[in-house]
Amino acid sequence: MAHHSHNHGHHHHGHHHSAVDGMSHTEANAHFFDKMAEKALSESWLKVERRMTSELRDRLVWIGIEWANKDVEASKDVRLLDYACGTGMMTRTFAPHITSATGVDVSPAMIKAFNTCIPDSGLPYHRVSAVVGDIISDPPSSSVTGPDFQDFDLIAIGFAYHHFEHQDVSVRKLSERLKPGGVFLITDFAGEQKGHVPEEAAATMKVTGFEEEDVKSVFAKEGLVDFGLEVLKENVVFEMDGVTIDRKVFIAKGRKPDRPVASI
Ligand SMILES: C[S@@+](CC[C@H](N)C(=O)[O-])C[C@H]1O[C@@H](n2cnc3c(N)ncnc32)[C@H](O)[C@@H]1O
Repeated sequence: MAHHSHNHGHHHHGHHHSAVDGMSHTEANAHFFDKMAEKALSESWLKVERRMTSELRDRLVWIGIEWANKDVEASKDVRLLDYACGTGMMTRTFAPHITSATGVDVSPAMIKAFNTCIPDSGLPYHRVSAVVGDIISDPPSSSVTGPDFQDFDLIAIGFAYHHFEHQDVSVRKLSERLKPGGVFLITDFAGEQKGHVPEEAAATMKVTGFEEEDVKSVFAKEGLVDFGLEVLKENVVFEMDGVTIDRKVFIAKGRKPDRPVASI
């Protein structure tokens, strides 16, 4: 397929495909996901969400942050950034183990859906918020500046890494928002997509999937340590525009060092 070179992430410099002529890659994403927002709560996708929620919750220890202990008064704050949040799968997944969540997405319709779903997370309203914005762009959107968008314990990105224009830049820009010792977590598709991807969806992607080495090398390049990656034993299956998508999925993590690693 013309859209997908067989290189991965950081080898993509110079390529530029967008959904509609004249739209930047990010605008193409906002445009596409605005239209997708309704379907994001379809039974087919909710099934993926339930599956991912249990896979991720099974790995709380592996993820390796100190989770909130809500039984203890004045338990320390555990702050999640749910980046490219969509309707908030990562927020709902980690809600029982964190004290606050911040969603950011380039699609206004997704942010609207996220805000409608806040009660489902079980977190109180004043502990959850979501805004339209882009942290990866240079400069970042004005909506995502200030202390509320800094010093996260966990940044989690669900099925969005393959939509970012430059994977290395995304890891760099987002890691800046982590506390020292904070964890960067991605779940996304492993390997190449085989078969047909609906045209407009394909145009929002830079790559259709990643190999372990692709993710590992970007994390290392951007200074994250304690890399780990697990491929789920069972594929994730869902419908997109009448097409059945059957994909291998991985969960990857890296940690921002407690102190910056001295550069030599
Ligand atoms: C497949 S959805 C996944 C949503 C959610 N994280 C989940 O797992 O259900 C991908 C999301 O990435 C968002 N997105 C794409 N590029 C982005 C960017 N540069 N910055 C922020 N969000 C972005 C899209 O608007 C869309 O909501």
